[in-house]
Amino acid sequence: MTTMKEKSILKGFSRLPVRDKRRLAARECADEARAEELFASFEHPSAAIQELLSGISENTISNYPLPYNVAPNFLINGKLYMVPMVTEESSVVAAAASAARFWADRGGFRAKVHSRTKNGQLHFLYTGNKEQLQAAFPLVEEHIRKCLRPLTENMEKRGGGLRGMQLKDQGHILDNYFQLHMDFDTRDAMGANFINSCLEESAEALHSYLSQDSLLSSGHYEPLMAILSNYTDQCLVEVSLSCPLDQLVGAARGLTAGKFVSRFITAVKIAQEDVYRATTHNKGIMNGVDAVILATGNDFRAIEAGAHAWASRSGQYRSLSVADADHKQFRFSLKMPMALGTVGGLTSLHPLAEKSLEMLGQPGADELMMIAAAAGLANNFAAIHSLTSTGIQAGHMRMHLSNITMRLGATAEESQKVRQHFADKKVSQQAVTSYLEQLRKTE
Ligand code: MEV
Repeated sequence: MTTMKEKSILKGFSRLPVRDKRRLAARECADEARAEELFASFEHPSAAIQELLSGISENTISNYPLPYNVAPNFLINGKLYMVPMVTEESSVVAAAASAARFWADRGGFRAKVHSRTKNGQLHFLYTGNKEQLQAAFPLVEEHIRKCLRPLTENMEKRGGGLRGMQLKDQGHILDNYFQLHMDFDTRDAMGANFINSCLEESAEALHSYLSQDSLLSSGHYEPLMAILSNYTDQCLVEVSLSCPLDQLVGAARGLTAGKFVSRFITAVKIAQEDVYRATTHNKGIMNGVDAVILATGNDFRAIEAGAHAWASRSGQYRSLSVADADHKQFRFSLKMPMALGTVGGLTSLHPLAEKSLEMLGQPGADELMMIAAAAGLANNFAAIHSLTSTGIQAGHMRMHLSNITMRLGATAEESQKVRQHFADKKVSQQAVTSYLEQLRKTE
């Protein structure tokens, strides 16, 4: 019989020692002792590394390791990379590696960064004279820039800083609502802290300007929020693949080069127009992008949010990639926002993120944007290739085979036999279970 556990509000939880937090969390599980032991077993053997990991987040009671993988043979702008990818999905790295290898023989990826401007907004309410505020804006800007100098000085020395500032009357959304929209160049840093600090300081600076201006001080000023935007539509990377059609002979078993290309282009067109397909298509791109972002200590949620907003910029959610061909050449490309950093934050804190960047040859933010986008396009190519030829499940289930055998508690010897048996057969959970049962009966 299971007994209901008493629950109560936990006060001061964050101040408890790890062992107590772990015990309290384990209480939520059926087998408390086993849960506590499991959490403890994932603690890093090096106290220094554990301290570092725990310091990254809050209320850490264990670690949650994900596989750290590499995809070799990424030829991007003539340079070869071994690309680190952190992901839990078994087929992602295999797909990236096989597409990278395929395209390395066909000129590789060509990539460029269109711009690297990031932005943020101070959202505020102002009830005073709107025309007067607009008219005074050049002076307001000068004052804000002066107030921000202690914050921007260092970034300016590195070639970055505050780029532009716009006052937007947002009265059509809400009475008296304005935005101070600011553009930043944060060089190789992701720059979130820099941008947010500048925006918060701007809220103060705007207040000080308004209160000392006799024509503006009568209006009520109320700053609402100061925060960067993850819609980085001016921080764009583009990556493309292209080759003569005759280099695609044999690319897909059973299909001529022409048929393969036409099926491929049709699939991408469908993802341009149909939201159900577009979402999955873009998920396939993010499989590659996120894995690189995670491996290099960047913020994949920020890139996801920006990418999907960008995919909707026409008013309809569409594929991030496009494909076309003429009678000679096939072209496949991806353009998307990608606000990444290679200095500061987790990139230098997490030992594996640091190692990833070293493996990539210490890229600047531009280069990392191109690498992550190439991984996205590689995964997208592999997915569309499979979907329009063999179907996705053949490869997926083969990769999934080890997960299934693991779940069924197969020994190394049994797993080996399962792999041999299914080398030329359709893999399914049911089929593997029956085969293993059969195997165990006969042994
Ligand atoms: C699976 O993680 C990703 C795919 O569904 C992408 C796609 O359908 O294009 C295979």
